[in-house]
Amino acid sequence: MKLSKLLCAAAFGCLLASPAFAQNQIVIKFSHVVAPDTPKGKGAEKFRELAEARTGGKVKIEVYPNSQLYKDKEELEALQLGAVQMLAPSLAKFGPLGAKEFEVFDLPYIFPNKDVLVRVTNGPVGKQLFQKLESKGITGLAYWDNGFKIMSANKPIHLPTDMKAQKLRIQSSKVLDSQMRALGALPQVMAFSEVYQALQTGVVDGTENPPSNMYTQKMHEVQKHATLTNHGYLGYAVIVNKKFWDGLPADVRTQLEGAMKDATTFANDIAQKENDDALAAMKASGKTEFYTPTKEEAEAWRKALLPVHKEMEGRVGKELMESLYKEAAAAGFKM
Ligand code: LMR
Repeated sequence: MKLSKLLCAAAFGCLLASPAFAQNQIVIKFSHVVAPDTPKGKGAEKFRELAEARTGGKVKIEVYPNSQLYKDKEELEALQLGAVQMLAPSLAKFGPLGAKEFEVFDLPYIFPNKDVLVRVTNGPVGKQLFQKLESKGITGLAYWDNGFKIMSANKPIHLPTDMKAQKLRIQSSKVLDSQMRALGALPQVMAFSEVYQALQTGVVDGTENPPSNMYTQKMHEVQKHATLTNHGYLGYAVIVNKKFWDGLPADVRTQLEGAMKDATTFANDIAQKENDDALAAMKASGKTEFYTPTKEEAEAWRKALLPVHKEMEGRVGKELMESLYKEAAAAGFKM
């Protein structure tokens, strides 16, 4: 780097560090519950990098991964209180807020593939769901991908009946509760940060998550078996405290919106590979035996789980469900 550039960078660095500048700097605390090397973790880091660069240092993003600052339920309360400014909770965690329609994303087999998912989140349904957060003091900024979930346990799981009486950790979603009960299992809502220890001590026998979450929480060390069911989807809503967001200077908000847009593209572009790499790493570790259901077995899983849709119509909303079925049909898939 040329001397002049170095001197300029040094001067700018001093300016940024000066107490006066620091006093005027806008700080955004971005809390989340997963490891940094996950789709969400890397998306948060990318947003930090872009937001600080695009605002010329006027905004500082403090990312707190792995439930360092707040665990699942606490983080939404902290956001509404303004103790943190940004989160990216799983779409399965908005029911306790009163936005139970978000649990449409938890319905088994609701998305035949990610293309249909993106048509939903980028379309009117995605916008309508974000509108439901406004009255809770929350503004939805983006949808970030993770992936399709696999089942894990300490016994071989080939058919739905193998899940009978298994104690299974789930996120705080009534649809996921119904899903596990449809398998004859015993669902237990638990914070993500507590899952590893619960599996290690036998408080629960198994759980579900995309491979990236299973691997980065080292669940493969405490789960002897996993089955590549891909029976459901896990993704995120990036959300901010509405009062904070509306109170930002307009130019800063625009710069942050641009940074969020590009961080969203980045996070969604890496999600599938992050999950593929995590699955490969777990297989290579030899600690968990991975099973791929046969065509007939996969059909048995669908048959066992699809009744959850009818059961959850009243909670999620029949009209909302039908709009997702229409998107799938438009892509050539019949629910
Ligand atoms: C879980 O609680 O299993 C996930 O929602 C964690 C996450 O944020 O991916």
